[in-house]
Amino acid sequence: MASTYHQVYGGWKSDPERFWAEAAKAIDWSRPWDSVFDAEAGMYGQWFAGAECNTCHNALDRHVAGGRADQLALIYDSPMAQEVRKYTYTELKREVVALASVMKNQGIAKGDRVIIYMPMVPEAVFAMLACARLGAIHSVVFGGFAARELATRIDDARPKMIISASCGLEPGRIVEYKPLLDGAIELAKYKPERCLVLQREQRRCDLVEGRDLDLADQMARERAAGANVDCVPVAATDPLYVLYTSGTTGQPKGVVRDNGGHMVALKWSMENEFGVKPGEVFWAASDVGWVVGHSYIVYAPLLHGCTTILFEGKPVGTPDPGTFWRVIADHGVVSLFTAPTAFRAIKGQDPDGTFIRKYDLSGLRALFLAGERADPPTLAWAEAKLGVPVIDHWWQTETGHPISHNPVGLGMLPVKHGSPGVSMPGFDVQVIDDAGHPVPHGKMGNVVIKLPLPPGCLPTLWHADDRFRDAYLAEFPGYYKTADAGYLDDDGYLFIMARTDDIINVAGHRLSTGGMEEVVAEHPDVAECAVVGIADAVKGQIPCGFVVLSSGRDRDANELEREIVALVRDKIGAVAAFKTVIPVKRLPKTRSGKILRGTIQKIADKEDWKMPATIDDPAILDEIGEALRKHGIGV
Ligand code: COA
Ligand code: AMP
Repeated sequence: MASTYHQVYGGWKSDPERFWAEAAKAIDWSRPWDSVFDAEAGMYGQWFAGAECNTCHNALDRHVAGGRADQLALIYDSPMAQEVRKYTYTELKREVVALASVMKNQGIAKGDRVIIYMPMVPEAVFAMLACARLGAIHSVVFGGFAARELATRIDDARPKMIISASCGLEPGRIVEYKPLLDGAIELAKYKPERCLVLQREQRRCDLVEGRDLDLADQMARERAAGANVDCVPVAATDPLYVLYTSGTTGQPKGVVRDNGGHMVALKWSMENEFGVKPGEVFWAASDVGWVVGHSYIVYAPLLHGCTTILFEGKPVGTPDPGTFWRVIADHGVVSLFTAPTAFRAIKGQDPDGTFIRKYDLSGLRALFLAGERADPPTLAWAEAKLGVPVIDHWWQTETGHPISHNPVGLGMLPVKHGSPGVSMPGFDVQVIDDAGHPVPHGKMGNVVIKLPLPPGCLPTLWHADDRFRDAYLAEFPGYYKTADAGYLDDDGYLFIMARTDDIINVAGHRLSTGGMEEVVAEHPDVAECAVVGIADAVKGQIPCGFVVLSSGRDRDANELEREIVALVRDKIGAVAAFKTVIPVKRLPKTRSGKILRGTIQKIADKEDWKMPATIDDPAILDEIGEALRKHGIGV
């Protein structure tokens, strides 16, 4: 089919308000908007101002009433727990209502915050939707984060309630969540009133008298009592959730998502960008703790009336590199969305695709990759082995849905390996130099988006308008700064090449090297440090710490490494994947004292690098090269 992309994109550009008003017809509103876009409101304007709606109603009740009552809504498939559970729309609604009733009985109401710190279990989805039903604001914290990270989020979000579980399941180990939860509450200045805890059979936990309640018991009681909780109408501009993401310091940014614009944008993306129809099975192999999980495990597929898969496992080792293909074949998945790192892991263990041939994948139509740069060899391998289009697309926690894509639903455009496609309606993506001037096609620069951002993107940061302005709007007036660097080609395809800040992407997980440096610097023997992301064949990037010891300290390098690695694991969490520490005598700096992290990374990755003109002492770079070689890096 010839692509209608150019026509549709042109239509959006000529009249954005008409475009989004048309898209908004796919959503149920309890009160219509006063204006599609109010340019005077908020930080850069607000979408659907004056309208009222409820996200849970649109994700569940509407489908139950509209003919999908007996269709599967959610399939939980866990090779970790050896369990598969399926919920129709009616059943999912029943669970969500039961949990909403428990929460309501505990005083949770519109605008209250609820932190969800859970592994990949259906109760995490129930909790998100129950918050939406009550108009409460959820904040899901990824299970791989340690107590201190959770405490930071508790203090910022000030949740009335935390919903958690006794444990998570990682290959070869059980992760006890409860000590982390208790530790975080202990560390936090703000104390939540109530915790609901899911007791998992793999490892039960003790409940704190007077604070903790057993989630399953409470839900069973509400179910038995036939509890009913209606959807609470909220303003389209009210927050649905806050999702913390790595910023340029150890203090994460609380990305706010509203209700109305979010629904409109996600619903539009399912049909037009992902090419999926209501009733079909869509699988995002991510985690509910990340934005991909929020948007494409939970909200978009349910808003669109699809069946969504919640997979608790890894692409390899649970039990083998065929697990993705087994899930696709067992549940009739039409589209898979995951991070390139998952495919690099599979390719590493099954280079010939032997496991792929064991399963009937005839129903699979496309593979979507995002979260980090998709390297062309991995793309080519996936295309050859799966025989379906492999589509790289680019977005951020902040935008909530794809900025650039190859819109399957509008008819595919030619694929260019290395490019995550073309700008989607809503996004006027431009590339500019540091002075804010446009750069010619093919030339690298700052990737920015002309304001206003479309529906679905963050309206601000949680209780931090100034930080939002400083981080995203101040540097290039009139534009949103993505903090990605890249270029546009003559056909309008974007190429994302690097971050312009301290963010690195480790196994598709967004992490701040600045946040890691803050922790490394806490070690009593460390005088100074730099953490840089270096290339890794599977995870894309991994963090590597360079430390200068305080004067007079002489430490065994292996012992020091063990201590610092343990410190980062304890303070940030296992997800940081921080395993390497290299002691050095000095760090390379500019004459004004800035550490030359970019140059260190290039030396480690054996990329071409130029001697920075402003370097203080060029000899230090030789010392860094030598230290890396001793570690077997960059040789
Ligand atoms: N709870 C607790 N610990 C967790 C966790 C969770 N939810 N998720 C990861 N961890 C731990 C891991 O067990 C690992 O611990 P270890 O150091 O003891 O081995 C550590 O955090 C690092 O995790 P990760 O970087 O994910 O490495 P991995 O070896 O466990 O898995 C991949 C590597 C590539 C298989 C996996 O990251 C993956 O499937 N990624 C692609 C999908 C994805 O998550 N995308 C995210 C955004 S789309
Ligand atoms: P997150 O907020 O975790 O989704 O991470 C967003 C960042 O991941 C972006 O700013 C990019 O740096 C990177 N990223 C996401 N998708 C892609 C992609 N398809 N290609 C290149 N980088 C990507």
